[in-house]
Amino acid sequence: MARGCFITLEGGEGAGKSTQLRLLADSLASCGIDVMLTREPGGSPGAEEIRRLLVSGETGRWGGMTEALLHTAARRDHLERTVWPALDSGRWVLCDRFFDSTMAYQGYGLGLGREPIEALQRVALGDFRPDLTLILDLPVEVGLDRANARRGDEDRYERMDLSFHARLRDGFLDIAAREPERCAVIDAAHPVEVVQAAILDAVTRRLTLAA
Ligand code: TMP
Repeated sequence: MARGCFITLEGGEGAGKSTQLRLLADSLASCGIDVMLTREPGGSPGAEEIRRLLVSGETGRWGGMTEALLHTAARRDHLERTVWPALDSGRWVLCDRFFDSTMAYQGYGLGLGREPIEALQRVALGDFRPDLTLILDLPVEVGLDRANARRGDEDRYERMDLSFHARLRDGFLDIAAREPERCAVIDAAHPVEVVQAAILDAVTRRLTLAA
């Protein structure tokens, strides 16, 4: 049995990742591919518990390094219990955020820098990488307006200041420029159907859609 593909969706607040992930899952399923949707932080019972510590409460609740460690601990559990078994059984896994979010939010946004985040991911993940990463890009103000319109309790990161969000947008674009083979930047300022078509185009150009 061939191992499944691992696709991650990344981007700042309000980029429309969750909607696009569902649409992509439907398209892949209609090609006969067995798809699983998951998310970070979360995606396994233990990682969902860690998520609760991260997404609510005061913006300064954690120091940057503690936060990076918590996200990475959740990631390791998610991989061991959910992602790796699914890929091994031939399923494709679509994941809402992955290690690029730690690099963008904690590395660039909170100012930890690239090196400690790279080191942490190396320890926790070895050389495991997504087969494809779609980075949904849009102006910070547009994303925050969208995110504020649907604001719930999980808004700790949304409440961080504008300069934080600007740093993480630049961070995602820098990540994509450093790894163009793995990452595709998608303009998320367009209507849902246009973004959906751009995503499908990137997936079909870069991966073989054989069930
Ligand atoms: P979500 O709102 O996309 O589900 O993600 C929850 C928040 O967690 C989001 O604001 C981004 C943040 N985050 C990090 O800061 N670092 C990480 O490594 C991950 C996976 C998410």
